[in-house]
Amino acid sequence: MLLLEAVRVCYGAVVGLEDGSLRLNDRELVCLIGANGAGKSTLLNAISGVVPVASGHILFDGESIGGLRPERVVRRRIVQVPEGRQIFVRMSVEENLLLGAYVRRNEELGQDIDRVYSLFPRLLERRTQYAGLLSGGEQQMLAIGRALMARPRVLLLDEPSMGLAPLIVEEIFATLRQLREQGISILLVEQNARAALRFSDRAYVLTHGRVELEGPAAEIAKNEHVREAFLGKAAASGRALAPVLKSRK
Ligand SMILES: Nc1ncnc2c1ncn2[C@@H]1O[C@H](COP(=O)(O)OP(=O)(O)OP(=O)(O)O)[C@@H](O)[C@H]1O
Ligand SMILES: [Mg+2]
Repeated sequence: MLLLEAVRVCYGAVVGLEDGSLRLNDRELVCLIGANGAGKSTLLNAISGVVPVASGHILFDGESIGGLRPERVVRRRIVQVPEGRQIFVRMSVEENLLLGAYVRRNEELGQDIDRVYSLFPRLLERRTQYAGLLSGGEQQMLAIGRALMARPRVLLLDEPSMGLAPLIVEEIFATLRQLREQGISILLVEQNARAALRFSDRAYVLTHGRVELEGPAAEIAKNEHVREAFLGKAAASGRALAPVLKSRK
């Protein structure tokens, strides 16, 4: 459905992504894990058109979408939930949700808002409050809800677990599973490898701008090098796994 082939992104002289190659199948929840600065956000931003692609290909349903402007990508129903949520704190919860529907005509908005509220009942309780008054977890729910208002076929999430308590992370990842069951394909970028691998179907490991390992999430979670770098003691220090990871299955 979504295919990246050797996508390279440069920020001036800095290479943000060296070789971004992955695929996301229909109704799949795939996670992309990697240390700080590995290029995870850059890869998502390349898909969503926020940063230009220097070389390589991005295909969606067989058509090239590399180089499309962000709003054109959203119209193809590929919608990103950005790093740090980026909700509008001085607007109400419901106003934030309505912003997510900006690419659409106004029909059925009420129905879609109701769908978001049934997914996240806490947003309904707070619909008229300033978004800035929500807890971190609720703000993340709002960011996801806002993305859903664009009726995505593909949802791209950039570290939704950041700064959240483990129980809320569980709740949010369980919701992602639910969305996948409703037919949305999900690419989840995470530093929280432990939780992400538990909820995902497949996983990719990004190291210094390259996809170095891929496979079923359960297998990746058992991989010795991944355990060492992301699931063990080293995870806390954010150590990269470049020297140990070579095999790309
Ligand atoms: N706007 C920018 N200008 C210059 N360099 C950048 C820019 N954004 C990212 N980079 C560099 O590109 C590389 C990849 O960064 P990116 O933000 O994609 O990593 P990441 O995996 O998302 O990291 P994190 O886990 O910290 O969010 C890093 O070396 C980073 O310093
Ligand atoms: Mg990032």
